Amino acid sequence: MYNKNLVRENGKFYTLDLNSKERRLWDPYRSKLCAGLANGLQSLPIKEGDSVLYLGCAEGYTCSFVSDLVGVQGIVYGVDISPYSMQKFVLLSKERANLVPVLWDANKLDKYELLEGVKVDVIVQDVAQKNQVEILTKNARQFLEKNKHFILSLKTSSIAQKSAKEIIEEETRKLEKDFEILERKRLEPFEKKHILIVGSPR
Ligand SMILES: C[S@@+](CC[C@H](N)C(=O)[O-])C[C@H]1O[C@@H](n2cnc3c(N)ncnc32)[C@H](O)[C@@H]1O
Repeated sequence: MYNKNLVRENGKFYTLDLNSKERRLWDPYRSKLCAGLANGLQSLPIKEGDSVLYLGCAEGYTCSFVSDLVGVQGIVYGVDISPYSMQKFVLLSKERANLVPVLWDANKLDKYELLEGVKVDVIVQDVAQKNQVEILTKNARQFLEKNKHFILSLKTSSIAQKSAKEIIEEETRKLEKDFEILERKRLEPFEKKHILIVGSPR
């Protein structure tokens, strides 16, 4: 897939010129959002001007494409617990003014001082933790309003040693207590034992 590029990158990140506009190749084997789109996800609720809280941004591969999608009027708060990944994300944020690095544990909301008072249009969550639904739910209560959206990349093998199908149904039932589920899309062959779930707070 090709995404409109927000910044000129002189060949880095697989930059191509198509119809005199710079576009970047978005690799579904490296990005679960892209894998969802490649598998026919209908509802990617990220648009120009949106503010996005991205939990588990790592070095920023997918975040850089979210940065392109929200454009210069938008903002992406990238949260990650790993100082090593965050160092690289900080460098990326110097090239992309709409990225805000937040070195933090998405489980610990009480001292999220950098994000105090922030409300976002979208939460993207890709932290591969056993309590992914709990992390999403508490972040959504704090940062997401009712008619806004989340995109959860659920890694079933991080949750329990059961079949992916069983875990997906169990975790979906947990989500349904607080959220309306709009779409679910399995990510094979790009990512094994993963599903993308899109929803909105009730
Ligand atoms: C699969 S990687 C994310 C890849 C990234 N979303 C992308 O597509 O470019 C998962 C990331 O979640 C981070 N992570 C795990 N637990 C976390 C937590 N409790 N809070 C914040 N980040 C966490 C890890 O450090 C890791 O960088």
